[in-house]
Amino acid sequence: MPTPHNSAEKKDIAKTVLMPGDPLRAKFIAEHYLEFPVCYNEVRGMLGYTGFYKGCKISVQGSGMGVPSIGIYSWELFNEYDVDNIIRIGTAGAIADNVRLRDIVIAMSASTNSAYASQYRLPGTYAPTASWGLLSEAVKNAKQQGCNFHVGNIFTSDTFYDDAQSLAKWQKMGVLAIEMETAALYMNAARAGKNALGIFTVSDCPLKELSTSAEERQTSFRDMMEIALETATANA
Ligand code: HPA
Repeated sequence: MPTPHNSAEKKDIAKTVLMPGDPLRAKFIAEHYLEFPVCYNEVRGMLGYTGFYKGCKISVQGSGMGVPSIGIYSWELFNEYDVDNIIRIGTAGAIADNVRLRDIVIAMSASTNSAYASQYRLPGTYAPTASWGLLSEAVKNAKQQGCNFHVGNIFTSDTFYDDAQSLAKWQKMGVLAIEMETAALYMNAARAGKNALGIFTVSDCPLKELSTSAEERQTSFRDMMEIALETATANA
């Protein structure tokens, strides 16, 4: 059944969905990596496609930026469209000193300053965590590929322009990188009894004021896509 944000029917969407933040990135991935891509959603420009990779049916859909946006789209995929696995693919800013531009970060867990968990009324602090099946498969693929990768805790921030300048505090706690969506994705997956993982390329180092050029981003984008697609096919 279509939702207010997605015009697809259940059968239009695969059990495993790759989710970049940018809907045009979803279009690019569908057109360059999938066979026979079909667009299933254009509502609010949040493009979604289903196609085949190595014979496996896979979908790719934009999530938009930030916790509320991925909160809506991933909730609907898990709960209205019977999706089992969502793999977020995106860019992140390095926080840990040993995480460098163009490295890959695989998010084992996602700390956050978002209030998303308050809806569950838990008597403590929830730890948003990746699904082991997806995480272990992604790590296996990253090792096979021989790219520079890190596995650990990331920080999902509600602010891109942060007045409090609090990154150094997260750095002290061993957090690898900052982005803006994964904690909500992990909570939606946990609540729905489904699976989720975030895989990132490091596009900038906010603490050192460094960033990658568009060309440099292409190589690490390919590494991330290879890991995500192989992980998706193993779980499709
Ligand atoms: N902050 C938040 N989100 C990000 C960043 C950042 O520096 N880089 C990529 N996504």
